[in-house]
Amino acid sequence: MTSRPEVNGKLPLTELREMGSRGERIVMVTAYDYPSGRLADLAGIELILVGDSAAMTVLGHATTVPATMEEMLMLTRAVTRGAERALVVADMPFGSYQVSDEDAVRNAVRFVKEAGADAVKLEGAGPSISRVTALVGAGIPVMGHLGLTPQSATMLGGFKAQGKTADKARELLEDAVALERAGCFALVLEAVPAPVAARITEELAIPTIGIGSGGGCDGQVLVLHDLLGLYSGHSPRFTKRYAEIGAEIQRALERFAAEVRSGAFPAEEHTYAMAEDELEAFLSSPRPPARTET
Ligand code: KIV
Repeated sequence: MTSRPEVNGKLPLTELREMGSRGERIVMVTAYDYPSGRLADLAGIELILVGDSAAMTVLGHATTVPATMEEMLMLTRAVTRGAERALVVADMPFGSYQVSDEDAVRNAVRFVKEAGADAVKLEGAGPSISRVTALVGAGIPVMGHLGLTPQSATMLGGFKAQGKTADKARELLEDAVALERAGCFALVLEAVPAPVAARITEELAIPTIGIGSGGGCDGQVLVLHDLLGLYSGHSPRFTKRYAEIGAEIQRALERFAAEVRSGAFPAEEHTYAMAEDELEAFLSSPRPPARTET
């Protein structure tokens, strides 16, 4: 790994743009707790997203919509305790920024002050442009998210690729430029045709982080539970499994259950001994009086 500059032990946000212009790919992964934040940090990953995908991957909901501020704050706190060097981006959950700029600033401040997030992410353009301006004006770095924006999947007609017609692709490009002008430091492009994502990347000075949007983006993100093989729900075609941790965990749990049932666990080495005389004294002490029913 190349050595990179640091500010207070962290990768400076400005370094991301430098990496993009040097042609170095930026890596982002989601994390939702202390161990995953710690492991992503130790793996030298630049950006950790506490995604509202947590609603599905760790809380068992069918979509990201039910994630609440309190849940996202708790998960973000755990991740920031584990991530020393990587920048932690907290995903603003549905309802935490849609109503007004004031709401967006109030909630984003909580992520920074109470959970130690370095930045926040929000979805879409339209009203989100004014939210970005307000957040950046309040000194909070913002990552944008265009294309398939899961919080508004119903409006988009489901979990489908976006920007597949010339008009829609042009709209995405205009939205991307508007988010950059509003002050976003980076932009996630989700499920956008690769040539459209590559063109948007060329037009922007800020880095793009792709997910299902091809190799022309400045960086890539995957959902941790998808890449580890930990999520048993539907995974989109753009995810890649780098491990089968879910199956491994299940095997370990089955072995544990079998050993408890057979008496093979715990063995001698898992127990504590005591001095012989103390044991004898204990075993010869009078029995406690029988319990009387009340
Ligand atoms: O919530 C999430 O995990 C995300 C990524 C898919 C970018 O927004």
